[in-house]
Order: sequence, then structure tokens, then C-alpha cells
Amino acid sequence: MVAMKINRVFVPLLCVFISGLALGTLLSCGSRASGNKAEPVVWETLEELLSQMTLAEKAGQMTQAERGDLLKGDITRYALGSVLSGGGSAPSSNTPEGWVSMTNGFMEESLNTRAGIPIVYGLDAVHGHAIVKDATVLPHNIGLGAIAAGDPQRGAEAAYAAGRITAEEMLATGVRWNFAPVLGVAEDVRWGRTYESFSENVNIVTIMGAGYIRGLQDSGAAACMKHFLGEGQAINGRNQGNALLDRAGIERILPPYRAAIDAGALSLMPSFSSVNGIKMHEHKELLTSLLKDEMGFEGFLVSDWAAVRQLSGSTYKAQIANAINAGVDMVMATNGRDNWVSFIKNLEDLVNEGKIPMSRIDDAVLRILRFKQSIGLFDTPLTTAAGPVGSSAHRQTAREMVADSLVLLRNERNVIARLPEYRRILVAGQGANDIGMQCGGWTITWQGMHGPITKGTTVLEGIQEATKGKATVTYAADGKANGTFDAVIVVIGEDPYAEGEGDRSTQINIRSNDRDVLGQAGGYKCPVIVIMMSGRPMTIGDEYNKWDAFIAAWLPGTEGGGIADVLFGSRDFTGRTPYTWRKTINGEIVYPFGYGLTK
Ligand code: BGC
Ligand code: BGC
Repeated sequence: MVAMKINRVFVPLLCVFISGLALGTLLSCGSRASGNKAEPVVWETLEELLSQMTLAEKAGQMTQAERGDLLKGDITRYALGSVLSGGGSAPSSNTPEGWVSMTNGFMEESLNTRAGIPIVYGLDAVHGHAIVKDATVLPHNIGLGAIAAGDPQRGAEAAYAAGRITAEEMLATGVRWNFAPVLGVAEDVRWGRTYESFSENVNIVTIMGAGYIRGLQDSGAAACMKHFLGEGQAINGRNQGNALLDRAGIERILPPYRAAIDAGALSLMPSFSSVNGIKMHEHKELLTSLLKDEMGFEGFLVSDWAAVRQLSGSTYKAQIANAINAGVDMVMATNGRDNWVSFIKNLEDLVNEGKIPMSRIDDAVLRILRFKQSIGLFDTPLTTAAGPVGSSAHRQTAREMVADSLVLLRNERNVIARLPEYRRILVAGQGANDIGMQCGGWTITWQGMHGPITKGTTVLEGIQEATKGKATVTYAADGKANGTFDAVIVVIGEDPYAEGEGDRSTQINIRSNDRDVLGQAGGYKCPVIVIMMSGRPMTIGDEYNKWDAFIAAWLPGTEGGGIADVLFGSRDFTGRTPYTWRKTINGEIVYPFGYGLTK
């Protein structure tokens, strides 16, 4: 072991701890950045550590590679600073044990470098640690925003709990850095990331973002506020689009970031999108002058997925110079191993040619080191044992969030209050029995999927539980059933999607299979209760006039039983809509922001 840190005993202990690796192997590990003949690094302060790092080691720290783009030994050889999982990029054994063995393996490689700086592993646990099989999947942010629109205090508590549960499940798998929360304020529901945004209302995003960050970081995982700035203002709701913002427009959407900085947010991801035609990743005025200098953000900036490749400049090298000089500190250099390998080479050349000042590199690396120190990576780099995910306590809290997030938009002749009296209930629609649809994107896979993709309770199961011994529940996905019913509960919604895949150019229409089911439901001559599971207000035209009751359930996650708790329990609806509902895009308002009935 060549790396050492005086006044600490953990380093020698660690050497013993690193199983199966003889000291000889540690000393002789072939290295480029870590140069095995170089002087060992002895340090007390991070500044002392930094002062002894070579340019190659600094460039390594500034590099983040995708787990799938690494060959064995790369982390040691290039002294990499970070590894990530892209959406759905899980180890072949997608269990807490599988994750811990993977993350510890990467960690050991990083400790085997000359400077011995631990890597940090990051991923998108944007609604619970949902990439992991059978973890607790929380409602997407839009649902949490509905809790806050009803009651800001309750919303803040839910946000804190969401951060806490997410962090606890992340730590159980050896992951300590979450690319969340989204602090963008979605203002055009055609945007495919609307559900990642708590609300169209900036105050709600501010309360919820800060609450979430506190919950996450108090429980030991680092937050990454994203994306900065103006993603929700992009013209026509286009993902990675362009927003036209004057100073007042910028000020208007800054409060969530200011509150997040006050809450201690440790990192930030610039937005793929542009402001006034300039890509945020090369927007020095906003990243450095505003965010770092004026707003005093001391954490570090990690670029988004291969985003540097989208910048102006005709070569990758020129694009890298633009990003780093604008204030990006670590580059997520994905889409193949070549991208991070050449990032390092280009970065070193740029410094040697004087195109990026060493002071900028030192600032970036110090920010990264500070981050690592503040989450305890130098003290306890390895995870000693995998922990559980998806505990019943976590699921119970998630289920309460689901219940609190429901928004009752319509309740003709008080049909909801009569639900527990009905004896013959027909449940219809694909969404009633589909965990994947409840969860939406960023669940197990990047885009999400239909079907029983992870453990959870469907809406149907919740209704069956709640009515057990009291009513007969019939389920028909297509709405076609024999007999007479006292009520039909139809679950409609959107197919899972993430990011740009969810962009819509015109309306957010009801799916044709759902239209058919609604048509069937109307034929039973009994009240029709519509539950909509969607990542945004869908454009409902005049359709809703045919529904006796209408509930927005957003994307509730694995604990769909929370819906039945409200429908058949004695509790009132407390959520309010965090987004305006319209008949058509930019058309007539049906339910304004903040609307919602109690019963
Ligand atoms: C998204 C980010 C995400 C990153 C890593 C990007 O495409 O915009 O929000 O953190 O991928 O998965
Ligand atoms: C990754 C995501 C990422 C996206 C960006 C996907 O392949 O899995 O994490 O956000 O690419 O395009």
C-alpha cells in the first residue's frame, strides 16, 4: 500500500481488509496515472493531497466512466474519479449483494492507486433506488408535488422521507451518490421529463427539492441537483431544447437551486438544454459567474451523459475545453470506453498547451475531493455488508405517500363516498394490474416497462385487499365482462417512458386501448370511476364529462395499494394538482394548479 494519510490507522487496516490481494500485487499494479515508482502520497489536508497529484491523477479524478465501459484494471491504471450506472445498467446479479460486490470491486481498484483516492459511484435513484430488483419504488416527483400542493408541510415531510428511504436503500447496495433531485420547473407538459419535476410551481419545487436533499444527505448519500438551468422552460417542452430567458426569467427559476445550496447539496449537473442558444454545459456566465461565484456553490459540477459531445467546437478536444473552462468539474464521458480514454488524453493536452489553466483543474479536483471527504469516502470507502431493500417499513411509508398524492378532480353525486357500499365492482384497464406501468420510467430499466418487473402491489390487488369479504371484484383488462356491476373502476394512463422518448409534439392523448376500455365501461349503466396513472396531466378534451369520478394518481411506484386505502378507507383526499389540467395543449383550463376535492 503506497497511499497513506497520516494520523489515521485505517489505511494499514484497509490493506488487510482488501481480501485476496497480496501487498506485492498492490505495489506492482501496473499504472499509468499512478506510476508505481512515484513517491507515495502523504497528506493531512485535501490541499496537501492536491499539491502532490500529477496532472494524470487530476485528469483521472475529473473523469466518470460508465460501468460497462471499463476493463479490469482501468480504474487503477487511469486513477479514475468516478463510475456510474446509466439507466438500467445493473450488475448481472441485481441484488444488494451483487451491487456491493461490484461497487467494492471498483473501490478496491481505486484504493490501489498511488494517491489511493476512493472512487465515488453514482446513479439515478430518482424515485427510490428503482434500478435494483425488489427495491421500494416511490411515487415519481410529480406525485410528491401533489402532496405539497395540498399541504406544503406534509409535502416537505414526504420529500424528506423520500430522500431518507432512497439513501438507505442506496447504502444497502454500496452506492452513495444520487443524480437527484430534478429542480427544473416544468412549464410545458409535452416535455417527457415532466414527471421528474415536482411542479410547475416554483415554490413547490423549492420546498420539495430542499426537503429531499436533506433527507438524502442526512442519511449518508450525496445529492446532485439537476439540471441547471431552464430545462423546464425549453420551447415547446422539447427535451434538451432551448429556453429564452432574460435576467428576470432566470431569477424566477433560481429559488430551488438557492434552497438546495442552503440545504447543503453536494453536487450539480448542468442541463443538456440551452439558454438563449448557448448550451448550458458551456455557459460560463451561468455555471461559473452565477452559480459558483454569485450563488456561492462550493460543490462540484458533473456533466450529463456524453453532453460534452454536443457542445460547440469542431473537435472533442475543443468541446472539452469549452466545458471545463465554463465550470464543469467532472465529465460523464459515456457511450463507449474511447470517450473517457480520449477525454483524459485531451484534457492533459489542453492543460499542457495552456488552453485550460492549471488553476481551473485544481479548483475542479479540490471540489471533487471535498465532496468525497464530506460523504466519508476516505474514512470508510468499502461497504462491509449488503443490506435489505424494499423493507415493509419503507413500503408502508411509500404507500402513505401514494395515498397522500392522489388528487380527486371530479366526484359527481358524491360517488366516491358510496364506493365502500358497493357489492359488485368491475375493475378495468391494463393499468389496474401492471406494476411497470405504475412505476413509469427509471424503474429497473431506463425507459421502464410494462408488467411484473419488480415486487409491488397493483391497484387491483389493493382493491381486492380493501374489499375482501365485502364485495366481489371482477377484473377485465379490456373492460369486457359478463354481469351487472354497481361501479366500474377504470385505470388508464401512459405507457412507461423516460427523457426525450416521452416528448410529445401535440397532445397527451388517452391511449387507444384505454379509449376502448372507457367505451366498454360506459355500457354497464353504473358509475364510472377513472383513475389516471400518468407522468403529467393528459389532454382530456371533453372526455372527463363522461366520468362520474376522476382521480389523478400520477406514477405511484410499487405501492399501488395506497390508492385503495383512500378509495375504500375513511380518509379524505388531501393532494392537489401540482400542474394545470387543460383540454388541449395551451387550450382551455379544466382544473387549475392547486385544484383538488377533499371528497
Ligand atoms: C440524464 C440525466 C442522468 C444521466 C445518467 C442523462 O441522460 O439527462 O438526468 O443523470 O443520463 O443516467
Ligand atoms: C442511459 C441513460 C442515459 C441515456 C442518455 C441511456 O443509454 O442508460 O442513463 O440517460 O442513455 O441518452
